[in-house]
Order: sequence, then structure tokens, then C-alpha cells
Amino acid sequence: MQSLTFRRPSDLHVHFRDSEVLEAVVPFTARAFCTATVMPNLVPPVRTAREAAAYRDRINAAVPNGVRFEPRMTCYLTDQSDPQDLSEGHKAGIFTAAKLYPAHATTNSGHGVTSIDKIQRVLETMQDRGIPLLIHGEVTRHDVDIFDREKIFIDEILIPTLQRYPRLRVVLEHITTKEGADVASSFGNRLGATITPQHLLFNRNALFDGGLRPHMYCLPVLKREVHREALRKAATSGLPNYFLGTDSAPHFQHLKEADCGCAGVFSAPVAVEAYLQVFDEENALDKFENFASVFGPQFYGFEPSSTLVTYVKKPRQVPASVQVANVGSLKSLFANDEVAWSLAG
Ligand code: DOR
Ligand code: ZN
Repeated sequence: MQSLTFRRPSDLHVHFRDSEVLEAVVPFTARAFCTATVMPNLVPPVRTAREAAAYRDRINAAVPNGVRFEPRMTCYLTDQSDPQDLSEGHKAGIFTAAKLYPAHATTNSGHGVTSIDKIQRVLETMQDRGIPLLIHGEVTRHDVDIFDREKIFIDEILIPTLQRYPRLRVVLEHITTKEGADVASSFGNRLGATITPQHLLFNRNALFDGGLRPHMYCLPVLKREVHREALRKAATSGLPNYFLGTDSAPHFQHLKEADCGCAGVFSAPVAVEAYLQVFDEENALDKFENFASVFGPQFYGFEPSSTLVTYVKKPRQVPASVQVANVGSLKSLFANDEVAWSLAG
């Protein structure tokens, strides 16, 4: 049987939410990954070091006994963000990065940044202190077609920001386009990009496959096949600018299968298996460990895990749903279907 052994991977972009959902989803990520960068778009958002430290405690309390897992906390930037609190929180080891949500770009981004000029002092501080800026890279103007939002963000906001703050380190999160893949490797080691499993596995046809598929809806939305191909090439290129970030984003099934369904693909229960499928299809399993376990830590400057895990090419059935206490259910990627790889043992 084919198998692959590699250092425990790191998920550099995940959503855990809070309360019962947090308790239901953290175990999936903690079992598969040694660490994860946790997004701060809660209601209300995680804006201060004190809030992040409390959130970190709630996450740690949900990690199953005997499992080693380290959550990496992020600060939700607003027009009012305090550079001093961010900087002190970073120095104290609470914040590992700050997240820029353009206001109204995605789930719980209503408190996000209305214009990049509003956070000039924050960006100067981040550049001086070496705090990475994580970006949801989409413009939100209504005259821009939803499929063009990432490309326009790159031209209008990302590149000028990288030029204006020449030492700022940036991750363009969940890239979905050829333009995103191209730009991510064109600023040396100060720019990186995460890539989700769904953007590697599917193009936008998956949203309308025989009918409307709400569980395939995420932001940035799935794109054309040429973009998926570019992302697969980037992920398997062996370049250190591209690394694993699932963007696993749980929403209750009834809130996705709704008149106005929430954006997000819940991939945590099958994420490593899904990426393995992609690298296997691309005949690039030799590139997997760097993408999943090394390049992310290298960008952030922490040690990759020294613990090894083995996955085997053996199908595993994925449950139809994950129950969350008495509140609802979550439907994961590949729910009611099989994944081709599974964790050995
Ligand atoms: O699809 C998404 N869901 N994209 C995001 O940027 C946020 C996420 C969420 O928090 O649900
Ligand atoms: Zn996200």
C-alpha cells in the first residue's frame, strides 16, 4: 500500500468560532495539525491582546487530552486598532499576526478596515516589529464583478501596500487566481500565500453541479479552471511562498442551506487527506511535506514539528455530518463520500 510519512503539518489559516462550535471543531484540527493560525472574525471580533489570550484559553480547553496542539492567535484590525496593544501583545507571545479584513468582504467583517490609509500607523508598527499582515485580498466595491475582486485587490491595494511598506511581511490568504499565485512569488520571502483544499480541488462549476451547492460556497468564491490549474502548479512548485492554510470555516448546515447562505467550507475533518489527493494527482507527493509542514513555519519563523505522521492510500468514509451539541450540524467537505487517503494506525 502506498504511504507517505512527513512532519505533522501546520494549518496557517483556520476558523474555530466559539462556544459549542469551537468545542466540536477544534479536535479535528488539533488531531491533524501541530499548530494552526486562528482567525479572529468572531462576534464580536478578537481585537485586543487580552481578548486573544482569553480566546486562546478557550481553544486550549477544547484540545483533546493527550493531543499536542498550539493555537496561534491573530488580531482583527479595525480603523481604530491600537498599534501599541498589538505590539505589546506580539511581544508577550499572544499575537503572531494581524488580519486585515476589508470591511464587508466576508463573514463577520463588518468591523473591518474601511480604507488601508486608516491603519497606516499600525502597518508601520508591524513593519518595524516584524509582525506579519494577513490579508483577505478582495475589493468590496459593488461595481466590481465578484470573480474579479482578488485580481483588482492585488493591483489596487496589495502591490501599492508592499511598495509603501518595503519591510512589511504579508500573507495573501486563500489565493484563488492565477494573478494571486503569480504575485505571491514575486516579492521574495516577504510575501507568502495560503491555498485551501477546495480551491485546489474544484473550479466554479462545482457551485452549480446539478443544482445550487451551498456547501461549495466560500469567499473568495471558486474560480475558473485556468485558475485552479495555476493554484495546483503553485502548490506543487516547491517554492516556499506557498503553504497550507485550509480556511476551514464551519457554519451550521441550516445557515448554509438558506435563502442567503453563509460563505465557508468546513474542511478540517478531511483537510490533510484532501491536500494529499491533490499532490498525488499531480505526481508531486515529494513536494507535500514542504508545503504542508515546513514552508508555513519558515515564513512565520517557528520550528516545524519534529513528530512524524504517516498517511496511507486507503479510502476512508466521511460522516454525513458533525453534530454540535443540541444546536445544529456541520457538513464537511467530502461529507457522505470517501477520501482516498487516511491516517495510518
Ligand atoms: O468563505 C469564507 N468563510 N471566507 C472567509 O473569508 C471567511 C470565512 C468565514 O469566517 O466563514
Ligand atoms: Zn478565512
